[in-house]
Amino acid sequence: MAGASEGLGAAFAEALAGRGLHLLLLARREEPLTRLAAGLRARHGVEVRTAALDLARPDLAEVIPALTAGLEVGLLVYDAAASAIGPFLDRPLSAHLQVLDVNCRGPLVLGHLLGAQMARRGRGGLLLMASLAGGQGNPWLASYAASKAFEIVLAEGLWAELRTRGVDVLACRAGATRTPAFAASGPRAEVPSMAPEAVVAEALAALGRGPTIVTGRLNRLAAFLFTRLLPRRLAIRIMERATRRLYEVPGR
Ligand SMILES: NC(=O)c1ccc[n+]([C@@H]2O[C@H](COP(=O)([O-])OP(=O)(O)OC[C@H]3O[C@@H](n4cnc5c(N)ncnc54)[C@H](OP(=O)(O)O)[C@@H]3O)[C@@H](O)[C@H]2O)c1
Repeated sequence: MAGASEGLGAAFAEALAGRGLHLLLLARREEPLTRLAAGLRARHGVEVRTAALDLARPDLAEVIPALTAGLEVGLLVYDAAASAIGPFLDRPLSAHLQVLDVNCRGPLVLGHLLGAQMARRGRGGLLLMASLAGGQGNPWLASYAASKAFEIVLAEGLWAELRTRGVDVLACRAGATRTPAFAASGPRAEVPSMAPEAVVAEALAALGRGPTIVTGRLNRLAAFLFTRLLPRRLAIRIMERATRRLYEVPGR
């Protein structure tokens, strides 16, 4: 579980532990990870290891083999994400590069290293948490939306390549979800949102039927409108209006 300490990651960990899977939980902050791990062990009787790790670190490809040595990783859930909300040019370049590192480089590195082991064994799964935002350009979230498009298209390619090697690949395109990270992003308006547990249940049920799933009926309708029905320019403008309504502070 990459990005496991709270929100959707914690909900994935709970659901997988409930199915009897042993877990390796990764995130930057140690305390929430160890607290979650203790709860999972107590509730489900599974083995849970934790490691405080920044998935943006440049030597990620060297760290992961050491962390997973001796483990047979059967499923990778790549959940962690970074975002840079606001006008593209007003946010520092470093924030956009962080988005690239966590949301694109991270799943590529882990997908390659762990996917290779799974393909050798002839079984496994890669589940990438993407977003509805990855369906089109999204002003005020340009780098985040582009990174989520990367995850979707990466999962689609790998789904076709790896299914012949026994590895299921899925990108889960969620809409607004009630997580601490979403609340911390400072939305200024109410939007329809899903509970993390509902997103996780749909995503896990869709694993093996990839390449992508949109979770939630309302989100499926929105995805159909935005990527199939509306002209692309109009879809982008609507996303801009919706995102600014959510995050723009009047008068600034
Ligand atoms: N919430 C939504 O509304 C929504 C909607 C659509 C898609 N999604 C997608 O769903 C996924 C989960 O979202 P979320 O809202 O639960 O929050 P999130 O901000 O992606 O955080 C989830 C977990 O990732 C860890 N994390 C973040 N950056 C990390 C890094 N650099 N290295 C290691 N771990 C890191 C966090 O713990 P630490 O802070 O301790 O590292 C946390 O445990 C993301 O991929 C997001 O794009 C979310």
